[in-house]
Order: sequence, then structure tokens, then C-alpha cells
Amino acid sequence: MRAGLLLLGSAAALAACTAGKPPASSVPPEVARGQAYYTTCQGCHGNAGEGFAGMNAPRLAGLPAAYVAEQLILYRKGLRGGPEDFLGVQMNGRAKALPDEQAVRDVAAYIATLPAPPQQPAASPANPAGADLFVSCVACHGDKAQGNAALGAPPLAGTDAAYLARQLRNYKAGIRGREGDTLGQQMRAAAAVLPDDAAIDAVAAHAAALK
Ligand code: HEC
Ligand code: HEC
Repeated sequence: MRAGLLLLGSAAALAACTAGKPPASSVPPEVARGQAYYTTCQGCHGNAGEGFAGMNAPRLAGLPAAYVAEQLILYRKGLRGGPEDFLGVQMNGRAKALPDEQAVRDVAAYIATLPAPPQQPAASPANPAGADLFVSCVACHGDKAQGNAALGAPPLAGTDAAYLARQLRNYKAGIRGREGDTLGQQMRAAAAVLPDDAAIDAVAAHAAALK
């Protein structure tokens, strides 16, 4: 009898303190942990992962968790970034500051919940050279540059064109897509066919403006 009352009392207390909160199961634990880690990223990548061109930090919202985790692991291992990569090197310390690979998966899981921001109307005029060059990218990145998770090819549409162009230069120079980075090496081969800086800028501007 007494035990029953106690039980009833504690159930009521529990109901009172969970009232108004979403059921605990609505936020998976890795996402909740990842959100806490993300506080160390938002100063550069933005509160909603929208990116911040002033810090050269690309948009993360809209990237699949597997791609984000892969990039963080590459930065942790020094296969991306490093002293030759003036802007990318900033990410090596940030990625290594995550305590372990579970933390990498957690922050990637949180980032994957951030909705991709709505596309701005294209600021640049139609870019026929970029459209022609982009034909060789469609098989992996998709006709709208929406990405293809099965191939590990990230979305490019809506990302900062200057960031995309810089990555293409890094692949071409062998700074990104190093030995041991299998997917990056595929992309290095794809970037090698872009003849010059004008081609890189044109294809990056085209991909960034796609919807
Ligand atoms: C000091 C600013 C800064 C902080 C803090 C920072 N980043 Fe970055 N991040 C950058 C810059 C700059 C780049 C682009 C590097 C390049 O050009 O290769 C980048 C690139 C990335 C990329 C690669 C994106 C892509 O499309 O390939 C990922 C993923 C990323 N950051 C995740 C994170 C996460 C997660 C955190 C927090 C744990 C974080 N960053 C903290 C500045 C920062
Ligand atoms: C064979 C498939 C394939 C083709 C073709 C290809 N890509 Fe990629 N691309 C990838 C993969 C896989 C990645 C992720 C590589 C990594 O982890 O570094 C990638 C990454 C990128 C990135 C880095 C994005 C980021 O967020 O940092 C850019 C930019 C890019 N590709 C542009 C292009 C352009 C432009 C073309 C055409 C000229 C092209 N790609 C053709 C597979 C491909």
C-alpha cells in the first residue's frame, strides 16, 4: 500500500518535470552530444551551419553525415589540411580537438540534421563555359550538383563558389586527395582534366549556382 503510493507519487513527479519537453526519444543521443560539440564549430561555420565566407568556412548544412565524418577523419590524420594548405590547416586542430571517433560521428550526425538554407537567386549571369565543363562532373555529383551519397560525392549546389574553386585547385595541386584518401584521389583525377584557372572558376561558379 505504502509502496504503491510512493510509486504513484514519483510517477506524478516525473510527469510534472517532463511536461512541456519533447519526448526524450525525439532527439537521438548522438545528435544531442553532437550539438554540444558543434558549439566549438559555430564561430566559423555559423550557428545553423550556413558557412561564413569572411572566415573562408564553407557551408556544412546539407552535407551528409558520412561525408562530414570522412573529412574530419582526414583532417585528424593530416590527409587533408596541413602546412601546405593555408586555410585547410585551421581544421586540423579543430578536428583533433574532438576527443575520439565517436565524437566525430556525433558532430557529423548533428550537422546532418541542419536544414540546407534556401537557395539564393544566382548572382552571376549564365555561364556557358561552366555548364560545358560541368558535363564531366554529373556522373558523380548529379545533374543539379545535388551530390550522390552512394559514391561519396558531396552536394556542390548552393556552396560558396570561391570555396569550391579553392578545393579544385587543391586537388589539382595534390594538396587534397593524397595517398590514403581513396575518394579524394578519385576527385583529384576529375580535377586534373580542368585545363586552367579560368576553367576552375567557371565550373565552380556554375556548380554553386545550380538549384
Ligand atoms: C577557425 C575557424 C573554424 C572552426 C572553429 C571550424 N572550422 Fe571547419 N573549416 C574552416 C575552414 C576555413 C574550412 C575550409 C578549409 C579548406 O579550405 O580546405 C573548414 C572546412 C570544414 C569541413 C570541410 C567541408 C567540406 O565541404 O569538405 C568540415 C566538414 C568542417 N570544416 C567541419 C568543422 C567542424 C565539425 C568543426 C567543429 C568541431 C569545425 N569545422 C570548426 C574553419 C573552421
Ligand atoms: C568519379 C566521380 C567524380 C567526378 C567525375 C567528379 N567528382 Fe567531385 N568529388 C567526388 C568525390 C568522391 C568527392 C569527395 C572527395 C573527398 O573526400 O575529398 C568529390 C569532391 C568534390 C569537391 C569538394 C567539395 C567540398 O565540399 O569540399 C568539389 C569542389 C568537386 N568534387 C567538384 C567537382 C567538379 C567541378 C567535377 C567536374 C569537373 C567533379 N567534382 C567530378 C567525385 C567525383
